[in-house]
Amino acid sequence: MITKAPRGTCDILPEAAPHWKYIEKVAAETARNFGFSEIRTPVFEHTELFERGVGDTTDVVQKEMYTFLDKGERSITLRPEGTASVARAYLENSLYANPQPTKLFYNISCYRYEKPQAGRLREFHQFGCEAFGSPSPSLDAELITLVDTFLKKLGITDVSLYINSIGCPECRKKYNDALISYFKEHEETLCETCRKRLYTNPMRILDCKSPICKKVNEGAPVILDYICDDCSEHFNKVKETLDAVGISYTIDPYIVRGLDYYTKTVFEFVSTNIGSQGTVCGGGRYDNLLRELDPSHDIPGIGFAIGIERLLLIMQAQGINFPEVSGPDIYVASLGEDIAVSKLVTELRRKGIYAECDHLGRSLKAQMKQADKQKALYSLVLGSEEVKNGSATLKNMQDGSTQNVNINNTDDIIKVLGGK
Ligand code: HAM
Repeated sequence: MITKAPRGTCDILPEAAPHWKYIEKVAAETARNFGFSEIRTPVFEHTELFERGVGDTTDVVQKEMYTFLDKGERSITLRPEGTASVARAYLENSLYANPQPTKLFYNISCYRYEKPQAGRLREFHQFGCEAFGSPSPSLDAELITLVDTFLKKLGITDVSLYINSIGCPECRKKYNDALISYFKEHEETLCETCRKRLYTNPMRILDCKSPICKKVNEGAPVILDYICDDCSEHFNKVKETLDAVGISYTIDPYIVRGLDYYTKTVFEFVSTNIGSQGTVCGGGRYDNLLRELDPSHDIPGIGFAIGIERLLLIMQAQGINFPEVSGPDIYVASLGEDIAVSKLVTELRRKGIYAECDHLGRSLKAQMKQADKQKALYSLVLGSEEVKNGSATLKNMQDGSTQNVNINNTDDIIKVLGGK
């Protein structure tokens, strides 16, 4: 018997699917209002894309990727995130030849081999946006404003914005040196992974979840003390713009993000109501990613991604209701006239009406119960009399009012249903 899905995956059942549809609709509308167009990229890519793009010292690349050799012996990886794929698509399809910036959004599934818990899955979903071709801090603020607008449209209030600047490679060099000399003093205390990180990517230590490393991190040097004038001016402009558009934020100098491509602005939207996996959105600028993928293209970029599963947990914790899903426009019940019912519902459906009928030989009483349960707006019973006379009674299920209709003229019925 195979009746269990792989660990860390979830079915989205019919009761929940409309919630996902609604979130995706609000996401697409918000992205459109900010000038973003949809992009769809493959679920799998060449492994090298993520190794180079996301960074081979990150947990995502080192421990979490679903990587396999295909039948042609190519190393393939299920995407652990969207940014690298969208950047690859931007370069491959020469989207830089269009007027810039190019602003793209996506709703995708992602795959990471993580230890599953509430808000952390192995297959999860992201709504993300990426903007390429402008180094302007106004674009950083625009993306953050987009997230804020989207969350507010959904009615989410208990989420806080944290921002930081992690500078450019120049300031990062000085900062890394300062981190190395600080952490060297505490090398014995650090966890085993962080001891390795000390020599490969010391900033990753700041992201370590181990309580011992967290404690050491409290005294670590702060990046904002090391960023150069350019990066500092950029960060000030982002803050000024956020102030001007009325978005409140907290500066958190310890946000470094778990992926290697970031430069300058980084940000997270965090909820305290859904447990340890409270970061619902992460993003930032990545001015060197495209050059990393293709050295002939030195194009800046910035983006974010929101985890839909975490968003749903926040909405649930906040008691936010979703719009009701409407039931059938009409339920056609059968009194021994199944073929006439099939004919009628087919004609109605072909004209765009949501029409339901029974397929289990239920009694008339049970069929009407079913119509009620499905929240049908109207019902109509077809028995031999109705078929012979070509007319039937259409009943409004809300107020109980009835009306005779010609069953051989579906337009007559549709007029009553609300002129669909
Ligand atoms: P990330 O921080 O790795 O960034 O993921 C973004 C969001 O995806 C997280 O805040 C979280 O809501 C969700 N998420 C991540 N991993 C899981 C998981 N295992 N289970 C459930 N949800 C998860 C990125 O992916 C970057 N690509 C964001 C970005 C776009 N930066 C610039 N552009």
